[in-house]
Amino acid sequence: MNQKVSLITGANSGIGKETARALASEGHRILMVCRSAERGRAAQKELKDSTGNQHIDLFLADLSKQEDIRRVAQEILATTDQLDILVNNAGAVFTKRELSEDGLEMTFAVNHIGYFLLTMQLMPLIKATPHARVISVSSGAHTGGTINLNDLNLQNDYGTMKAYSQSKLANILFANELAARFQAKGIKATSNSLHPGFVASNFGRNSGLFFKFIFALLRPLAKSEKKGAETSIFLALSPEVEGVSGQYFDNSKPVSTSATAQDQELGRQLWEKSAELCGVSADI
Ligand SMILES: NC(=O)c1ccc[n+]([C@@H]2O[C@H](COP(=O)([O-])OP(=O)(O)OC[C@H]3O[C@@H](n4cnc5c(N)ncnc54)[C@H](OP(=O)(O)O)[C@@H]3O)[C@@H](O)[C@H]2O)c1
Repeated sequence: MNQKVSLITGANSGIGKETARALASEGHRILMVCRSAERGRAAQKELKDSTGNQHIDLFLADLSKQEDIRRVAQEILATTDQLDILVNNAGAVFTKRELSEDGLEMTFAVNHIGYFLLTMQLMPLIKATPHARVISVSSGAHTGGTINLNDLNLQNDYGTMKAYSQSKLANILFANELAARFQAKGIKATSNSLHPGFVASNFGRNSGLFFKFIFALLRPLAKSEKKGAETSIFLALSPEVEGVSGQYFDNSKPVSTSATAQDQELGRQLWEKSAELCGVSADI
């Protein structure tokens, strides 16, 4: 039987690593996309040792950098003809406003453009694979999010949570718009998004002392990383979601989102703007 190919971004840590472990245990070929060679190699070895699956490849890319995304996509296109599952998972939070090397606010760059551009660059594989599944890890934090298309960089009004909520709202708008575009083009792929729950991962590790303190304080209330990966794994593997697209999941169930996340016109405009910011065609 044809071995399934699954790509997970941020697969060296937390929810991404547990998702990769589950898919490796199912016998999939795993493509890990990580930014640190050291952390990536350590996780690759751990996943090979714990699952016995040796088909686990590591690709390096800093997903805040469009050049890295383009390069790693070329490397991936050279190594496989199919992509059954793409889990856009890598994410971060930034205490202070920083700009990426492409001039974008970092949270928006990593959490949204990282999903958008990688997916666009891998589109030939997604189209070539019958019933490919694109999964975007969002967050319940999207409910506090707003999107001002004229100030995506939050130049005038930066706040850590404002930037994070904006990016997680963008994840759902992106996933829904991708689902609509798959359908419009007759592409037999699905796109869904999810909230993993509050998870005791490394999330926020690189943020400032305030956030570290908050995360440490709330840690006893958090799910394990394994539990936190359950909805991603469900969307990747379950026959229940075969053909299901444009939905947002929590605890492996479809749930409603904020009204803004359902705004199709906003989703379309964000898509067009994202394509412009990346210098790619908006067509899939
Ligand atoms: N933890 C929660 O409670 C929670 C709740 C809702 C949603 N989420 C979402 O869940 C996803 C996974 O987070 P997690 O909780 O598993 O956190 P995590 O343990 O910190 O994992 C995040 C992963 O993203 C990678 N990453 C961050 N910036 C990157 C960049 N510029 N380029 C490439 N990779 C980058 C990290 O790499 P390094 O290890 O090199 O930093 C790490 O592998 C995120 O999208 C997050 O927004 C988390």
